Amino acid sequence: MYLLDNKVGLVTGGGVGIGRAICEAFAREGAKVIVADFNAETGQETVDIIKEAGGEAHFVCADVSNEEQVKAMIDAAITIFGRLDIACNSAAVSRGSGPIHEFERSVFDDTLEMCLTNTWLCLKHEVGAMLDSGKGGSIVNISSNSSLRGQPYNTAYAAAKSGVNVLTKSSAVEYGKKGIRINAVSPGVIRTPGIEKYFKEQPKLADALERSAAMSRIGEPSEVAEAVVFLCSDKASFITGQLLSVDGGAAVK
Ligand SMILES: NC(=O)c1ccc[n+]([C@@H]2O[C@H](COP(=O)([O-])OP(=O)(O)OC[C@H]3O[C@@H](n4cnc5c(N)ncnc54)[C@H](O)[C@@H]3O)[C@@H](O)[C@H]2O)c1
Repeated sequence: MYLLDNKVGLVTGGGVGIGRAICEAFAREGAKVIVADFNAETGQETVDIIKEAGGEAHFVCADVSNEEQVKAMIDAAITIFGRLDIACNSAAVSRGSGPIHEFERSVFDDTLEMCLTNTWLCLKHEVGAMLDSGKGGSIVNISSNSSLRGQPYNTAYAAAKSGVNVLTKSSAVEYGKKGIRINAVSPGVIRTPGIEKYFKEQPKLADALERSAAMSRIGEPSEVAEAVVFLCSDKASFITGQLLSVDGGAAVK
């Protein structure tokens, strides 16, 4: 008996990093997984990894900031696996950082679209599918510790992720009575390919970021994935509207 036996799951941004780890963890715990990403090569790679390990997965190419593509992604999940029980909205891209007075409005708007509007679009269509099935469900949005306190020069991303937090709480209240639980996970600094590249370029910053966690290290994508699995599973049956930091204690330090 596995934690997600008989569930159909969807993960956006499943091509690399945290999203890929969540796809792998869903499949290991018995879920059939729709891996969604706008990068077809890495998304298909995630499916291949899952299949090689004996799991069931299917790739859907979608840009989740585009509503037509989000709708098609959910329709594909229903066509392929019959329904949607659990979902994790992990896809996000920051379009830039810098002082506010020099920041282009288009960069701010794009970052909101790629980190907040996309999450709202996915929620809208995931909830719709769960209401149709009448069986409830569980959704986890991936936020960021950048949403928890002042983030100089990273304002667009921080504002977008704070929006994800309030979106999570508001939607949890809207759909609680329908048996749909909606939570968020807030990662600290996690060892993804993007972060590793950044650390190589900025070794001093890497040291400082490692020390910023109470546990004095950065996290692994699999450690974020375990929290998402728990929140999607029936073990979390009375948990909704929560923001869970997976950050080695960085937020409380
Ligand atoms: N890595 C960290 O340290 C860290 C820390 C805090 C929060 N997060 C959050 O965790 C999540 C995953 O981060 P990551 O570092 O693994 O990211 P990543 O950049 O390594 O991967 C993001 C994935 O999402 C896909 N993607 C992005 N926008 C998309 C879109 N519109 N449609 C479809 N696919 C899209 C990309 O192709 C990629 O596969 C993000 O929400 C990020 O903000 C990451």
